[in-house]
Amino acid sequence: MRISNPIAFILILTFCSCGKDETDQKERFINDLISKMTSMEKIGQLNQYSSFFDVTGPKPTRMEDSIKYEQIKSGLVGSVLNVTGVREVKAMQKLAIENSRLKIPLIFGLDVIHGFKTICPIPIAESASWNLDLIEKSARMAAKEAASAGINWTFAPMVDISRDARWGRVMEGAGEDPYLGSKIAVARINGFQGQDLKDSLTIAACAKHFAAYGFAESGKDYNTVDIGLQTLHNIVLPSFKASAKANVATFMNSFNEINGIPATGSKFLQRSILKEKWNYKGFIVSDWSSIEEMVAHGYSKDLKSAALSAIKAGSDMDMMSSAYINYLNNLLDEKKISIDIIDDAVKRILSVKYDLGLFSNPYLYCNDVREEENIFNDRNRALSLDIAQESIVLLKNDANILPLKKSGLKIALLGGLAIDKDSPLGNWRAKAPKNSAISVKEGLIKYNNNTVKFQKGPKLFKNPTFIDGHLNVNNTDTSGTYSALKLAEESDYVITVLGEHGFQSGEGRSRSKIKLPGLQEQFLKEIYKVNKNIILVVMTGRPLDLSWAGKNLPAIVVSWHLGTMSGEAISSILYGDSNPSGKLPMSFPRSVGQIPVYYNHKSTGRPAPSESVFWSHFSDEKNDPLYPFGYGLSYTDFLYSKLNINKIGTKSIEVNFNVKNIGNRIGKEIIQLYIKDLYSSYTRPIKELKRFKKLSFKINEEKNVTFILNKDDLGWLNDFGDLIFENGEFDIMVGGSSQDYIKSTIKF
Ligand code: NOJ
Repeated sequence: MRISNPIAFILILTFCSCGKDETDQKERFINDLISKMTSMEKIGQLNQYSSFFDVTGPKPTRMEDSIKYEQIKSGLVGSVLNVTGVREVKAMQKLAIENSRLKIPLIFGLDVIHGFKTICPIPIAESASWNLDLIEKSARMAAKEAASAGINWTFAPMVDISRDARWGRVMEGAGEDPYLGSKIAVARINGFQGQDLKDSLTIAACAKHFAAYGFAESGKDYNTVDIGLQTLHNIVLPSFKASAKANVATFMNSFNEINGIPATGSKFLQRSILKEKWNYKGFIVSDWSSIEEMVAHGYSKDLKSAALSAIKAGSDMDMMSSAYINYLNNLLDEKKISIDIIDDAVKRILSVKYDLGLFSNPYLYCNDVREEENIFNDRNRALSLDIAQESIVLLKNDANILPLKKSGLKIALLGGLAIDKDSPLGNWRAKAPKNSAISVKEGLIKYNNNTVKFQKGPKLFKNPTFIDGHLNVNNTDTSGTYSALKLAEESDYVITVLGEHGFQSGEGRSRSKIKLPGLQEQFLKEIYKVNKNIILVVMTGRPLDLSWAGKNLPAIVVSWHLGTMSGEAISSILYGDSNPSGKLPMSFPRSVGQIPVYYNHKSTGRPAPSESVFWSHFSDEKNDPLYPFGYGLSYTDFLYSKLNINKIGTKSIEVNFNVKNIGNRIGKEIIQLYIKDLYSSYTRPIKELKRFKKLSFKINEEKNVTFILNKDDLGWLNDFGDLIFENGEFDIMVGGSSQDYIKSTIKF
């Protein structure tokens, strides 16, 4: 670097030395503190409990809570989760600060997944917006609200890639693609953590679940994962690596075993890859009692040996197993572990507390005024609306049935979800009050020059009941069907809002059937008999099998669970005040038997259709999904042209092309670039997303777009996770979905 300006040189030196001074100061502070700690106090920092807050304060009523209470007072707890509110956090923090010998502050964690009180779309929905700026803003807003209520650590983002719509937690992720998943992970981390964790309106983030939780066999939650190193390095790990690179403050390990070892006890993942290869300096928290679960996995003999495996593997904080607090000291006495391993874990935890500013002020996040001002205000609701509008995906729109005219129409609004003010909040709704979402019916009131009449139809959901450990919310009560059909018959259009109840996806909500649940498809077929002008709005936390609707209905709008502003966002799309711009981050299968079905699959040796049966296919189902990754319609159309590819040096290329809005509305397009390596020493997917950009277009506007790809994009990771780049030929595809593009080939 040549610096011609001497003043700039001095400024840079000053800046660098400031940064270094700060790091040195932090290092000194933490080392000094650790030198004063007893081994039990160190182990205490590795211990995390869930709240036992009573209405009157942290007064324990149960025996186990009394133990936690006394432990906090003795400095034997490092973190508490699920305590919220300035008053509550303050009271809990006071217990630690005013009673413990070294007055080490607690760090307060909560699952702030897609909002705190103002709820944004569920993560898979936000991912459908492909709008990194909005996704970052959404996380920023969630952080601000949570931090204003005393929270300084969220267990988000979930960066698990998944190809299995049966898995209920796909609602919490960014879908099936490692590149999109990595970009979204970083946007969320930047949103939560901001520029500086010391800013009392930012919170520490947590990349979870390390690793491969989304690859559970048959999509059954907590199930076994057995995947090869190629899938691990190239599909599962990139979003975690990107998170580590973005300085996410913490990681969470995972419930599943992977290739025979529970992730929580995996030295390979936590030490060799994360802490050594990627040089990660933050700390790893276990998932809820995942240390204890190593006994049920059949990996550890008892809780004590589970504690031993977890700490040796690099799991720094124990969430809810009480394994560390009960056994690490014995293990030290028995010389099964050395104090260095504990010191390393403590250092990592204290370092995050330091970065959060908790040592300067343990009550930094406890300010009553902010709690009033920053939470659930108009600004936040407006942002939630913007994101909700961009998260909606239009799957079908035959003969431009949408958008609807704003007057003169008789509209039947059908389905219980149309008036549901709770389901749109989704499964992780933090502190959102029950029923605080705007329903579709409420949203439609804005457009009152049409006549909108509502009928529920058959009762779709009932209060959840557990039968043999299975959650059942589907109803069998068909009363209400007749009046709904009668209304449909008398109307010009039918808007039918169907799909999943807010608690039908999420943790522990795997499904073996992924059609519209319960009686809903049957109801839809009956409506179709009396009125074919159906606009189906699908509220869901996962891709569903919409084959019947896809074949028969003119319009399908996937709204997911959109959060606080749900009904307003959906109505603005139906009436064209907002032009749909979302695209699927995960393929929608034709049937459950196709799963896993994903765009970036391998070719196989027999990919092409043939006259005989001996090629890779099903006898009774197509190979491709019903709606593929990257797909989504707009009320306008875009034309891609003039694709030009040029080499830059020996390992980079410049891709240049035009995109034009050829319809008659302004709109946003998510421009996608895929590559295919035609032959290589490891087989590669038939398509890999490598770049995307969301741009706005006026009517007739044409834009020239350039992407640069380098060897990291064109290369591939070997079984050790190291990049390999080979000369050869690459197809370069640009377009509006993984199945709709223009293509050219380049040779190296
Ligand atoms: C279990 C979930 O797997 C994890 O994602 C969550 O953060 C913890 N529970 C804490 O609630």
